[in-house]
Amino acid sequence: MDIIKILLVEPSHSIGEAITKSLQRAFGAEVIYFPDSASAVELIRKGENFSIVIARNHNEESPILPHDRIAEQLLNTIYDCSLKTPLIVIGDFEHTLKNYALVSEKFRIEEINRFVVKALGLKQNNYLHLKLPDYVPFAVKHFYLMTKSPCSIFIKLLKKSGDEFVKRLNLDENFNREDLKKYEELGLSDLYILKEDYEVFMNSLFEQTLSNLKTNKILEENVELVADSFVLSTDLMRTLGITPNCLAVVDQTISMMRTQILKADKIGPLLRKLLDDKMSYSYRHSYLISALAYTILPKMEWGSGDQQNILFEKICMVCYFHDVYLEDDKLIQISSLDDMRKAKLTVSEKDTLLNHAHKAAVLIQHYPKLPQGVDLIIKQHHGVANGYGFPESLTAAVSPMAIFFIVLEDFAKHILAINEPPEKLAHTMRAAIIPLKEKYQLPSYRKIVNELEIMMHPKASK
Ligand SMILES: [Fe+2]
Ligand SMILES: [Fe+2]
Repeated sequence: MDIIKILLVEPSHSIGEAITKSLQRAFGAEVIYFPDSASAVELIRKGENFSIVIARNHNEESPILPHDRIAEQLLNTIYDCSLKTPLIVIGDFEHTLKNYALVSEKFRIEEINRFVVKALGLKQNNYLHLKLPDYVPFAVKHFYLMTKSPCSIFIKLLKKSGDEFVKRLNLDENFNREDLKKYEELGLSDLYILKEDYEVFMNSLFEQTLSNLKTNKILEENVELVADSFVLSTDLMRTLGITPNCLAVVDQTISMMRTQILKADKIGPLLRKLLDDKMSYSYRHSYLISALAYTILPKMEWGSGDQQNILFEKICMVCYFHDVYLEDDKLIQISSLDDMRKAKLTVSEKDTLLNHAHKAAVLIQHYPKLPQGVDLIIKQHHGVANGYGFPESLTAAVSPMAIFFIVLEDFAKHILAINEPPEKLAHTMRAAIIPLKEKYQLPSYRKIVNELEIMMHPKASK
C-alpha cells in the first residue's frame, strides 16, 4: 500500500504535535503540519498531492494573530483545484459544499484516526497492519517508575545504511533508574518496543508505575517518585487524552501530592525539597502552589473544616492541570504580557502560551466526577475571564479562587527563581514577597499577599 500523506492545519502547536504523532503511530503516515492556512493552501495550489487533509475550523480570536478561516480556505482550495481529497474538519463548521467530515471540538486524538480509516476507505486488516511503526518509541523518562521489562526493549542506532534496532532488555529482565540515566547520558532519549507488544507494554507501564507509587517511602523519596509520575502522566495525557489507564496514574499523583502535604507536621522540609532543581520545573511549581495554598486557605474565611478540605482538593487539581499544555519550562514561567514580550517567542510558542489556560479547562471537563468550579479556576489562572492570554492589567472580575491561585503562583515563581540553597528557604521567601507587595494593590489580591507575610512572620502580626 502507498504511504499515506496527510496535510494537517491546527493553530495550537501542542495539539498539532499530538495529532501528528498519533497519525504517524497509527498509519505510519507522512504528516505535513502547519499552524495556519496560508502555507497549506499554497502547497495544494502548487500541485502537491495528499491522501487526506485535516484542518481546524478556524483559529481563536487573538490580538496578535489575524482571524484565519482555516477549514473554509482549504475546502475552497480543494474545490478550485478540482481535487477529490477528503477533508476532516475539527470543530463546528458549515459550508455550502458539503463534502467534508466533522470531528467535535472536544475530540479525542484516537477519534481522528477512526475518521481517517473511514475517509480513506482503509480495510480493517490494512489498518491493523499499519497501526504502529515496527518499533514504537517511548521517552526514557517514561520508564523511570518501571523495574521489569514486560517485553523486549530496544535502542536505535543511527547508521549510514539506515536505522538499526538493537535489543537491550529481554522480557522480564530487571532494570533500575541508574541504568536508564546511563542511556540518557549517552544521548539516547527514546527506547523502543515492537508494535505487537504495544498493549502489553502500555498496561505494564501503568501497572508498574501505580504499584511503585503505592510503596511507602520517606518524604524526600516520595517527592521524587511523584515527580516522575507527574511528568509521565502529563506527557501521556497530552498525547492520548484522558484514558482510564492514564486517569489512574493522574489520580494517584494528585492524591499523593495532597496527602503528603496533609501529613507533613511542618511544611518547611517539603518546601525545601521542592527547591531541588533535579526535578522538573513544572512539577515543582505545581507542588509548591499546593503546599502554599494549604497553609493560606484557613485564613481565607471560605468555610470551615470540610469545606476547606474540598477547596484544597480543588486547588490540588488546578495545580496539576493548569499548565498541562506547556511542555517547555520557559513558557511555564511567563505570567504576563510583559514577560511574554521580553521572552521573544515564535508565533507558535505564543499561540501555545496564549491558549494553554483555555485548552486545559476544556480538557479537564472530560474528567470524571470533576469537583465543581475546577475548570473555571484553570481557565482564569492568569487573570483573564475567558482564559485567553494575559490581562492588560489585573482586575477583580475573575473568580476569588483564581485570584488566590494567581498570587500564590507568582510567589512560587519568585521562590523558584531565587537560586539560594534550600537551607536559606526563610530568606528566599522574604525576598520573594517584596515584588508582590508592590504589584498587587487591589484589595482582593492584596489580602493574599498580607496572609503570606503573616505566615512568614507569625509573631510580628500578633
Ligand atoms: Fe503555572
Ligand atoms: Fe499557566
